[in-house]
Amino acid sequence: MKVLGIESSCDETAAAVVEDGRRICSSVIASSVEEQALYGGVVPEIASRRHIESISAVVRMALEEAGLSAGELDAVAVTYAPGLIGALLVGVNFAKGLAFSAGKALVPVHHLRGHVASLYLTHPQLRPPFLCLIASGGHNHIVEVQGYTRFRVLGRTVDDAAGEAFDKVARTLGLGYPGGPAVAKAAEEGDPAAYPLPTPHTQGRYDVSFSGLKTAVLNLANRAQMKGETVNIPGLAASFQNKVTDILSEKLCLAAGETGARAVALAGGVAANIQLREKTQAMARERGIEVFLPETTLCGDNAAMIAAQGYYERQAGHTADATLNGYASLPIEEDGPPQAR
Ligand code: KG4
Ligand code: ZN
Repeated sequence: MKVLGIESSCDETAAAVVEDGRRICSSVIASSVEEQALYGGVVPEIASRRHIESISAVVRMALEEAGLSAGELDAVAVTYAPGLIGALLVGVNFAKGLAFSAGKALVPVHHLRGHVASLYLTHPQLRPPFLCLIASGGHNHIVEVQGYTRFRVLGRTVDDAAGEAFDKVARTLGLGYPGGPAVAKAAEEGDPAAYPLPTPHTQGRYDVSFSGLKTAVLNLANRAQMKGETVNIPGLAASFQNKVTDILSEKLCLAAGETGARAVALAGGVAANIQLREKTQAMARERGIEVFLPETTLCGDNAAMIAAQGYYERQAGHTADATLNGYASLPIEEDGPPQAR
């Protein structure tokens, strides 16, 4: 089954064709990140405008690269939640037009379910169940992936998502946007013990919190500036990254131990972080459990992951009609739009 995936939930306009949820036939991404970087973060209206300009060409290129016409597809899958609403609506509306004009099934895909599916593209042998930490710019979940379309959230952030914390710290340290790769790069030269940073406590056993950590970095930088001292930027970036990756890998480890998971995985933009990948691998090795990491190029937003998940949603009968809408937020457990329940 050949599925076209369309993704437009944030600042990437993406389209891809994936066969049977596992084989990438084509994957095209147009990003407005460079323009967004001028503003230090994503400006929703700019994102929507860039999607509307790029989407036709991006979809055409994905079909061309796959050597297919729209008529040869089996389904059109699209991210319908969660994300920036104006951005989501561009992809949803385009997918609707294409699906109905070509007479194909329209398959709504939850963005975070898509991130999980990036693992199926990287590891052909991977099958649920497994435990997955999904860490992106907007979300931070520890999820039990019970089946391809069955999820249970065990823990989440009580404030900022990990990626958001990286982005805010990068802004404080003048490292630019997106913050994750910039902080990781600066940290390469730094001592992770340079600054003692707090470990935030949360009530929920598998929940995390990053706002206190982010504020601690902000206060350190401000205090140094007021005293006329220079901040050891590599040291602060390394201390921050070390703390975040400790918290994330420890929570995943705790959840794996207590649920008896046989396999753990990472997904989402923050899964590209090398230190997080290494700590997760070390933790899994110690416990004798399997670990699955997405290929780095599939960690950030892309449409191949949406097409892959679209295959499994289609198999489960989760299709939509011409009334499909976009939703800024929707729990990962939900199988479809709120009004369908
Ligand atoms: O999944 P994603 O591409 O978009 C969302 O769905 O939010 O995640 C983007 C987030 C950004 O906050 C970015 O700073 C972070 O992932 N990120 C990283 C790294 N690469 C991207 N965070 C830490 N280390 C990285 N290497
Ligand atoms: Zn994402």
